[in-house]
Amino acid sequence: MSGPILEIDGIHAGYGETEILHDINIHVDPNEIVAVIGPNGAGKSTAIKSVLGLLNIRSGAIRLNGEEITNTPPDQVVTRGISYVPQTQNVFVNLSVQENLEMGAWTRPDGMAERLEEMYALFPDLRAKSRQAAGSLSGGQRQMVAMAKALMVDAKVLLLDEPTAGLSPKYRGEIFQTIRNIKNSGVPILIVEQNAKQALGTADRGYVLVDGANRHTGTGEELLADRDIARMFLGGRE
Ligand SMILES: Nc1ncnc2c1ncn2[C@@H]1O[C@H](COP(=O)(O)OP(=O)(O)O)[C@@H](O)[C@H]1O
Ligand SMILES: [Mg+2]
Repeated sequence: MSGPILEIDGIHAGYGETEILHDINIHVDPNEIVAVIGPNGAGKSTAIKSVLGLLNIRSGAIRLNGEEITNTPPDQVVTRGISYVPQTQNVFVNLSVQENLEMGAWTRPDGMAERLEEMYALFPDLRAKSRQAAGSLSGGQRQMVAMAKALMVDAKVLLLDEPTAGLSPKYRGEIFQTIRNIKNSGVPILIVEQNAKQALGTADRGYVLVDGANRHTGTGEELLADRDIARMFLGGRE
């Protein structure tokens, strides 16, 4: 099958009367990591939420494998194979790592043992912690649990909202490496990030959003080399 896995095509959307996204275009092809960067309040999280059916899209379309899913309710979006890791509160802190993963498989309860084994292969650090409460883990390991939980279903695409926010450089590096491993396992990824340099260094392509509109797009390398982008986002940050 050719064509994008996920397509956000010229959407206008917002909360209540207020329009936040003005003609946003983003797509994710098979085998791609796509990064969305931009200043605080640019509409990055809102763009992800528009895919999930969490806000009203006034015009434009969302398509999954060419099929329109605009304004589909969130539970049906997830059942169709769009997996999402929110920025915060993305694990059940009082449940063990393994229980978290089992909760992630609510739309696909069959083949649980095989699925868990696949996740422990993709996230090796979690195997030894499987009986520990997720709330007792470090921030980086908790993000691993959240991603593994999201991948317990047959994900066609994984959406990540700032998975490295608040993490130390060491854990940030581990998360970006894990994101590459997820891509190599066959799941394309749309990632929203504040750590622009590392995100663009990891991504195949990227988009810069400013004030709810597309500002720049290109390969990760092209965006990293762009002076305007360097001035906006890459100064100061490692
Ligand atoms: N639930 C909400 N209700 C109303 N306005 C919101 C809501 N969430 C975000 N906004 C507004 O939408 C704009 C974009 O926010 P957001 O998508 O969270 O930006 P980013 O993720 O790029 O930092 C901001 O002006 C923010 O105040
Ligand atoms: Mg955000």
